Amino acid sequence: MRRRSGVADPLWYKRAIIYELPVKSFFDANNDGIGDFEGLVQKLDYLEGLGVTCLWLLPFFPSPLRDDGYDIADYCNIHPSYGTLEDFKRFLDAAHERHLQVVIELVLNHTSDAHPWFQRARTAPRESVERGYYVWSDTEDRYREARVIFVDSERSNWTWDPAAGAYYWHRFFRHQPDLNYDNPAVLREVLQVMDFWLELGVDGFRLDAVPYLVEREGTSCENLDDTHKVLKAIRRHIDARWPNRMLLAEANQWPADVRPYFGDGDECHMAFHFPLMPRMFMGLHLEDRHPIVEILEQTPALPDPCQWALFLRNHDELTLEMVTDEERDYMYLAYSADPQARLNLGIRRRLAPLVGNNRRRIELLSSLLFSFPGTPILYYGDEIGMGDNTHLGDRNGVRTPMQWTSDRNARFSRADPARLYSPVIMDPIYGYQAINVEAQERDPSSLLQWMKNLIGLRKLFPAFGLGSMELLHPANRKVLAYVRRHGSDTILCVANLSRSVQAVELELAAFAGLTPVEILGYTDLPVIGERPYFLTLGPYGFYWFELQRRDGHA
Ligand code: BGC
Repeated sequence: MRRRSGVADPLWYKRAIIYELPVKSFFDANNDGIGDFEGLVQKLDYLEGLGVTCLWLLPFFPSPLRDDGYDIADYCNIHPSYGTLEDFKRFLDAAHERHLQVVIELVLNHTSDAHPWFQRARTAPRESVERGYYVWSDTEDRYREARVIFVDSERSNWTWDPAAGAYYWHRFFRHQPDLNYDNPAVLREVLQVMDFWLELGVDGFRLDAVPYLVEREGTSCENLDDTHKVLKAIRRHIDARWPNRMLLAEANQWPADVRPYFGDGDECHMAFHFPLMPRMFMGLHLEDRHPIVEILEQTPALPDPCQWALFLRNHDELTLEMVTDEERDYMYLAYSADPQARLNLGIRRRLAPLVGNNRRRIELLSSLLFSFPGTPILYYGDEIGMGDNTHLGDRNGVRTPMQWTSDRNARFSRADPARLYSPVIMDPIYGYQAINVEAQERDPSSLLQWMKNLIGLRKLFPAFGLGSMELLHPANRKVLAYVRRHGSDTILCVANLSRSVQAVELELAAFAGLTPVEILGYTDLPVIGERPYFLTLGPYGFYWFELQRRDGHA
């Protein structure tokens, strides 16, 4: 029987609040030291209570786990450590019952070298379809203009395979050979994989590493027209069969290069806004709105059904690929004094440690995340201010077990601590005895309670997910102010990026006669007139005002 997706609104992803989580890190129900689907089911009450509306699950497929599951060995199954397909179905039904949508990973660009397609290709005759699932060469000289992405681990995008007697192409780790989209059999396989999961009822896919699908000589091998053709074919396939599903592109590129991933509304529904993310951190450290305003002004308009995916942190390093060399140096200096925190072109830290565990800075950045145009994505654990462990290697330091209580293993698992897939965070500031869900659920002024409130407010005002944005240009550059509008709803957002009290005059004559009502406390401020509107903000303070027309006012 065909299972249904969880949602009736075709634009559900625009109103969504997405929570990103690795199943292995969330909750371990069978106490083997590794999180699993059964554990996730047990924690759905928590996620529902938090108020998020969509779960994005990191890869959970059979895999040698040399890139935390982004090295897939079987696309249509579950890694035995996380459970079975039956467990997955139970989880999906339970999530849908709670009106939580589920987005999973589709790693299109590459497989693990352990995938049977690659093992077959290595020994298949040179001109065969099977060999042609991957990209081969007799020399390392092809596609010289393509950059290496994992600069700390790889020096070339080619690796010699003695069994094949040829080099194979890989944009990431050498154990992740790239699939060859010039071979029509590859796209057919991928469409089958998609149908498998859509049939089960998943609501969408995060399309991993999409800029690199196709290679062409003399180009950077990124964002090529033929890559867009593949994505459009995928979209056509979905639209013809599976209503209300969503494609989210991971294209770590400049806004102008990401824009084509939306096509004319006929490619991906969503794409991450990579360049905005580091600029929020930059604006905060510089105490100047300029970097944020500059990137927002460069951000192209999107076709109607499309939406940006916004985030502060995720499972990877805080990437600094989409900044200038100068900006990268600045970010390293400002946010990773400890060189141990740097990885590839980025910083492997969580949100709270990045901002010196300063609650006001966390709240300010979250207020931007939840009020900029797009759909916010919260990375598991950041809602309680979890820390990281940069000594764990690669990006594992931001993938440690979720901290549920102050009991053994943070109550993530009852296994012996030595069996856990990763040590829990134990330092005095961020350790599970100091930072955990149980304590924060009891504490009315905890970050967790604050976050629940923010999520609730965001959901009350559709203008955040659906509305337009106009930036204001007050003389005080430490203050960022913008208006979000949707139909007759108008929200004014004002944020102080600095550590000190600021005053600001806003040009609001266009809203003369309206009353700003502060949304968090539901407090009226004086009616807006023709003259500049004067406000003061505390250190890192922010306001969201609903501009209301009151009876008796014109
Ligand atoms: C994922 C990474 C992964 C890489 C290769 C990325 O963009 O976010 O975690 O290592 O793709 O699959």
